[in-house]
Amino acid sequence: MRVVGGSASIPLARGIAKRLKATYVDVDFEKHAGGFPDGESYVRLLSSVKGEHVVLVQTTHPDPKAVEFLLLADAIRDAGGRRLTAVVPYFGYGRQDKRSLEGEAISAKTIAKHIAVDCDELLTASFHNPDLLSAFPLRTQEVSGIPALGRYLRTADVDMLLAPDSNAIRLVKEAATIAGKPYDHLEKKRIDSYTVTVAHKELGVRDKSVAIVDDVISTGGTIATATHELKSQGARRVVAACVHGLFVGNAEESLRVCDEIVSTDTIVSPYTKVSVAPEFAAAIRALG
Ligand code: R5P
Repeated sequence: MRVVGGSASIPLARGIAKRLKATYVDVDFEKHAGGFPDGESYVRLLSSVKGEHVVLVQTTHPDPKAVEFLLLADAIRDAGGRRLTAVVPYFGYGRQDKRSLEGEAISAKTIAKHIAVDCDELLTASFHNPDLLSAFPLRTQEVSGIPALGRYLRTADVDMLLAPDSNAIRLVKEAATIAGKPYDHLEKKRIDSYTVTVAHKELGVRDKSVAIVDDVISTGGTIATATHELKSQGARRVVAACVHGLFVGNAEESLRVCDEIVSTDTIVSPYTKVSVAPEFAAAIRALG
């Protein structure tokens, strides 16, 4: 088995290779120093994958990383890769998961269709709408990124876990079971892409340290609003914990209200403190 890491996911790819005791294939991402002047992606595999089962690890966000994924998959096939397993830790374009207006692309399916050109199967973490995965044109499996957060929160200065909305209850329950700590949830109402409100609810958090657990932090609005509510109820400390840390726009500024931020390596950021490599390695082993 060989593991290839796209430039968005090198630390995770190396972690998966280590756990699988597989050879890591280095890649050149620039033909010349500085790359193509117009910013086009470039890839070159630096060792052979001929006849091998290859695992390609690359998050498809932002857009150039999705293009790079396609270049790598094609290069692996051209170089004689026998079987290709796609690991897309954060599935960029997963949000548009249905057609609500005539003429819309179902973006998640569009990306999956292109992944299926070269790949035999797809593994992804904490997908926006897991129900859609069965409609993808290749065998697809979701891996939970929550255990990595649960392991971290088990030993962190945290008294309880909190879901910011009812959709996240199953996530916080999974994390709380691993962390061995109690959990509760808030009710969020989304006003628009940047604004959310949370209904007031007595949480009994005075002098406590609380971790808010969610699948994604995008603008940070959800976590910042929940944190303000917790602090107004006397919480001593608030930890923001997410699988996918996008941190778009002014997110980091909004999140200054939090005492700590932790995210996984599905998206590499300054807040990446835990790895989903154990979960992906186990899922790859189980593929057979
Ligand atoms: C919502 O469905 C998700 O679970 C997250 O709560 C949401 O994507 C977070 O977005 P933002 O950080 O922009 O509030």
